[in-house]
Amino acid sequence: VAASGGCQPGDPTDRTATATDPAARLSFPPSFGWGAATSAYQIEGAAKEDGRGESVWDTFSRTPGRTRNGDTGDVAADHYHRYDEDLDLMRDLGLRSYRFSISWPRIQPDGTGAANQRGLDFYRRLIDGLHERGIAPMATLFHWDLPQALQDAGGWESRDVAHRFADYAATVFAALGDRVPVWLTINEPKTVVQNGYLSGHHAPGRQDPDAAYLVAHHLQLAHGLAVRALRANGGTGRIGPAFNLHPCYPADDSPAAAEATRLYDGYENRLYLDSALTGSYPEDVLADLGPDSRMVRGIRDGDLQIISSPIDLLAVQYYTPIYVTAAGGTERRWPTSEAEWQQIYPDGMYDILTRVTRDYGPIPLTVTENGLPTPDMLADDGTVDDTGRVTFLRDHLAAAHRAITDGVPLESFHVWSLLDNFEWAEGYEQRWGLVYVDYPTQRRVFKRSAHWYRQVIADNAL
Ligand code: NOJ
Repeated sequence: VAASGGCQPGDPTDRTATATDPAARLSFPPSFGWGAATSAYQIEGAAKEDGRGESVWDTFSRTPGRTRNGDTGDVAADHYHRYDEDLDLMRDLGLRSYRFSISWPRIQPDGTGAANQRGLDFYRRLIDGLHERGIAPMATLFHWDLPQALQDAGGWESRDVAHRFADYAATVFAALGDRVPVWLTINEPKTVVQNGYLSGHHAPGRQDPDAAYLVAHHLQLAHGLAVRALRANGGTGRIGPAFNLHPCYPADDSPAAAEATRLYDGYENRLYLDSALTGSYPEDVLADLGPDSRMVRGIRDGDLQIISSPIDLLAVQYYTPIYVTAAGGTERRWPTSEAEWQQIYPDGMYDILTRVTRDYGPIPLTVTENGLPTPDMLADDGTVDDTGRVTFLRDHLAAAHRAITDGVPLESFHVWSLLDNFEWAEGYEQRWGLVYVDYPTQRRVFKRSAHWYRQVIADNAL
């Protein structure tokens, strides 16, 4: 059964007004998982250490012209060496949940075969350090750093890579499965599809629509195979996918805009949600791709059963809405952030959370990313005033709170990001962290938003 959902016209009423009223206090459920998120390639650095192999992002970022200023993740926030200090920052923030990713090329340098023990040891130390500080680890298995050797063998266009991913996942579960309560399989498959294979803006930098949707299918298949690998290994942790969802709204009242929005939503949201949660791809998207597309030809009997293997929770990442015109293009309606793709629209958080619950049932939800890049500067007095981030997070948390009040089973919320980091093709210029990283010295400084978030966590309320 395909979900009936789709996009509703946006409500122009500013419902965040009460949340900004100092007299109103919004309390969160007692066990709410206040968190922050990062990913391996974006923060770790130590690109050549302890047997780590190369990933597609090493190749891509070292290719002239691919990233701003030619930035790479070679050093990044040097978290690989400074994880202990970073764990203390998390403790000082009062985090209850920390979402990080495991670097596949640290575990299997060539993407297959025996585990590299030194790679596993790093994550074991990190996870133990979290437990020592009372912070629940949430581990993403794949946050875009595909081993280059697997790219050389066809990358996600190759069905075999989905099986390689399941093997890698099983290796990680065997080593760390007893100490990670929540696993996320694949981070934002849609971004790999759209940026990696449509715009070419991300690794591996391809522009090939026919390949892109075959990649989508293989990423979904890899997700399902990893879920099965956890169950097969008797894993006790919970597991789910991490989807970046975009609420889509028609740009005007015309039937043509409504229709275009419906298909746009199919590509942005239902392609991933329907397959993982209902075991079918949306008919409108399959029809639009056509029977001769590589994706449609690549779907084998049984694949959708694998993809829809029961999950324990669904991770939602929300950054921006999309307004779709009658001609199928897009339009801006709200102020844009430093990331040109991001319009600031807190109600979109409410809309996407309630829509998922309405269309797919009361599956536990976690927000694994939400955040804003701001032009942060370290002032002479040692402070970083990112008031824009505070406003953004407060308004989005208020929208999430409203969704909880309306029955959405949201259990945790992770700010993107804990630290300033390597923002992919944008390099280090965009700063997304609660904590400022002074790259020349690698000094960490709590921004105003970190002080604010610490208080929110301590109060368990906005
Ligand atoms: C989504 C990605 O998962 C993360 O890696 C990225 O830095 C943020 N969005 C911000 O663009």
